[in-house]
Amino acid sequence: MRYLAGAVGILAIVFLCCLAYAWRSEIAPIEPPAVASFDAALVQKGAALAAVGNCNVCHTKQGGEVFAGGLELPTPFGTIYSTNITPDPDTGIGRWSEEAFARSMREGVDREGRHLYPAFPYDHFTKVTDDDNRALYAYLMTRKPVKAEAPANELPFPLNVRMVLAGWKLLFFKPGAYEPDETQTAEWNRGAYLAEGLGHCGACHTPRNLLGAEKQDERYAGGEAEGWLAYALNAASPAPVPWTVETLTAYLTTGYEEHHGVARGPMAPVTANMKSAAEGDARAIATYIASVMGEPSPERTSRGGRAMQQPTQHPPGVEVQAAGGQTLPGQFDANDPGAAIYATACASCHDAGRPVPYGGLPLRLSSATYGPTPMNPINVILYGLPAPEGERGPIMPGFAGALTDTQVAQLLAYIRKTFSDQPEWKDTEALVAKIRAGEHDTQLRSLGSGSSAPANPTKRETSW
Ligand code: HEC
Ligand code: HEC
Ligand code: HEC
Repeated sequence: MRYLAGAVGILAIVFLCCLAYAWRSEIAPIEPPAVASFDAALVQKGAALAAVGNCNVCHTKQGGEVFAGGLELPTPFGTIYSTNITPDPDTGIGRWSEEAFARSMREGVDREGRHLYPAFPYDHFTKVTDDDNRALYAYLMTRKPVKAEAPANELPFPLNVRMVLAGWKLLFFKPGAYEPDETQTAEWNRGAYLAEGLGHCGACHTPRNLLGAEKQDERYAGGEAEGWLAYALNAASPAPVPWTVETLTAYLTTGYEEHHGVARGPMAPVTANMKSAAEGDARAIATYIASVMGEPSPERTSRGGRAMQQPTQHPPGVEVQAAGGQTLPGQFDANDPGAAIYATACASCHDAGRPVPYGGLPLRLSSATYGPTPMNPINVILYGLPAPEGERGPIMPGFAGALTDTQVAQLLAYIRKTFSDQPEWKDTEALVAKIRAGEHDTQLRSLGSGSSAPANPTKRETSW
């Protein structure tokens, strides 16, 4: 009996300790500060930082006002809605002091002391400096207040109890500012600070464990976001032509690089935002990411060189109309249905030197051809690439209506075999069917995933 009392006593103490750990105090509400009280230069700095942080991507629902929240973020655990971060006093963060804002970024706790779900990537934002939080706060507090209540999250018990997040944080959350590496250059440190912090690149590019936390021993090894593969950005980068600081900078700031192709899916808004980043920041991020990838092996370098030097090589297929109007002859393996589909549906744009917006890059240069799964090329083949709004940019039609699942699988088998040196993809047809049905397995997705659009690509009519 005494032992039992002792055990109960110990349990009670453990429970109280947990509560004490889990408990965060409220920070008193303030009167919304006047717009004029913020320095214009600080606001401008905040705007550039918010672009790197992609705050607009998650905090704006389709057709909704910027930063007014309400975007649905599906996770394997249930649905979380982003909140209103406009300075509306009742439904937004108008009554948040700078201290409350900075605490939410650093600790993932709201003004009233409640734990926030890591779908808000504070596991990265914790690295942001006080100065940068001050600028972000100035920027957000000078936006137009919008009255908009975020819908309630749809999470099962016990995940709907925010206190539970204290346990998640204890296990996986390492709060703390970025610590510069003195052995590296200032540019590298700037890039690391932004990529690891505000840019939260690892939120998509690092695989996650079953509880939705990034696997720290597999950083940048490739992850999944919204039914797209976020390629490895470490030594395992599948890019046939190794990335360099220059090509990464071009890709990040324009969403396109001539020897790598276009940024699609959830990467598209990242690159669209990067245009508004402060001068030099995209290059700093590129410098850091290039060092994470490391020097490519001599084999990869020579493979990349070969891939770039090959003249536009129309497939051993039917006649192709080239850019200059001349007809390129060819013969193809009549026994390979994939080759015939490629020759008739794809080659005129991807293999005939046709310029952008309709000319796609030769597929032997694309990470999509070399990636560990065909998820991304399936998305592109089925749903195409819409023209960027109001801009001249790459356009590709979707083939969902023209090709059956079997045909897409045959086409992909042909592309993989012909344009890469990688082993064949397995179970491609089943994956095509799943993606077409919008039921693509989102197991790798998680509480912290950077979801920004509906999982079904047919609905992805993003406005960025
Ligand atoms: C990957 C998606 C994502 C990105 C990117 C993102 N947020 Fe959020 N944010 C969320 C979600 C989801 C919540 C709500 C979490 C919850 O309910 O626990 C949230 C909550 C917040 C909150 C707490 C608001 C409240 O009312 O409790 C603040 C403040 C915030 N975000 C600011 C920002 C800022 C500033 C940025 C850009 C630097 C940003 N967020 C980028 C998803 C995101
Ligand atoms: C919301 C999820 C998400 C975030 C955040 C994100 N990425 Fe990506 N990224 C992707 C996806 C998905 C792809 C694949 C896009 C495609 O197929 O075109 C990608 C592709 C890339 C590529 C091309 C790789 C290749 O070999 O083709 C680079 C480089 C890249 N991202 C860098 C970054 C950097 C740097 C950051 C942080 C500043 C970042 N990404 C943040 C999802 C994300
Ligand atoms: C009307 C022209 C056109 C046709 C037809 C076309 N594409 Fe594309 N495709 C493009 C453009 C433009 C891009 C974007 C620019 C780029 O990435 O090279 C693109 C991009 C791609 C990509 C992504 C490449 C990357 O890494 O950025 C893949 C994969 C792809 N197409 C496969 C196909 C396949 C397979 C077919 C045949 C079923 C096809 N395309 C038919 C124009 C076309």
